[in-house]
Amino acid sequence: MAEQRPAERPPLLVGRGVTRYFGGVAAVQDVDFEVRAGEVLGLIGPNGAGKTTLMNLISGLLPLSRGDLIFNGRSIKGLSPWDIARLGIARTFQIVKPFTGMTLRENVAMGAMFARDGKGVSAREALEVAGEVLEMVGLGHRMNAYTDELNIAMRKRLELARALALNPRLLLLDEVMAGLNLREVERLMELVRSINARGVTIIVIEHVMKAIMGISDRIVVLHYGKKIAEGTPQQVAQDERVITAYLGRRFGQGKGA
Ligand SMILES: Nc1ncnc2c1ncn2[C@@H]1O[C@H](COP(=O)(O)OP(=O)(O)OP(=O)(O)O)[C@@H](O)[C@H]1O
Ligand SMILES: [Mg+2]
Repeated sequence: MAEQRPAERPPLLVGRGVTRYFGGVAAVQDVDFEVRAGEVLGLIGPNGAGKTTLMNLISGLLPLSRGDLIFNGRSIKGLSPWDIARLGIARTFQIVKPFTGMTLRENVAMGAMFARDGKGVSAREALEVAGEVLEMVGLGHRMNAYTDELNIAMRKRLELARALALNPRLLLLDEVMAGLNLREVERLMELVRSINARGVTIIVIEHVMKAIMGISDRIVVLHYGKKIAEGTPQQVAQDERVITAYLGRRFGQGKGA
């Protein structure tokens, strides 16, 4: 059977009128979007545009004020973060907070215990999965180190490993490239591509333009909580509203790289 291109595949996640208020302010407002199975969807926009809030809504950390989110054909509205993780949605956090006093392997094993279809995973199995996932992200040699020994690039990889230990179908990455140098960004882009090549669908938030343009099949642009553009990286890069709201100021002097 010929492989389907992402554009031809069914949607894995659909957002309809996704809205979240904080007090009277809409952090995310009436956002419609689709993520197709196997695709890398980029999410960009200025600081405060609502990107992290949208990820918090998808992962169940925050309830929707209005709208719906349909994952794999079923509404996940109102489900707990644990239920959503078990359905196969994993995420990283913009501010990385590993458990201190634990080795990398123990940190990641905590994630594996909650893995998709992971009912009854023993501690030993969880540690085994953790070892494999740490190898995958290039931290195999530091498996038994403590998290306070890690530099920023390693912490970002650990964060990725924790999410991957959940065996997700959909992976949400919130600024995993922030604070990395150009070489580290390139290596992490390779890693994200290889995770996607294993069949994991990805939504990625990033201010590092080179990275977001290089790894996304499509990009959704948020501005003051609203979707102002959507399309291929080339299409959004040429969109007047996107240039005015975001790219004009960023291109060439991008934060991070
Ligand atoms: N828990 C919260 N309580 C109140 N307001 C919040 C909360 N979380 C986010 N906001 C507000 O919602 C808006 C969107 O914030 P959000 O963190 O989603 O933006 P972002 O696009 O991720 O920005 P950045 O690029 O700086 O990470 C901002 O105005 C922010 O101050
Ligand atoms: Mg954010």
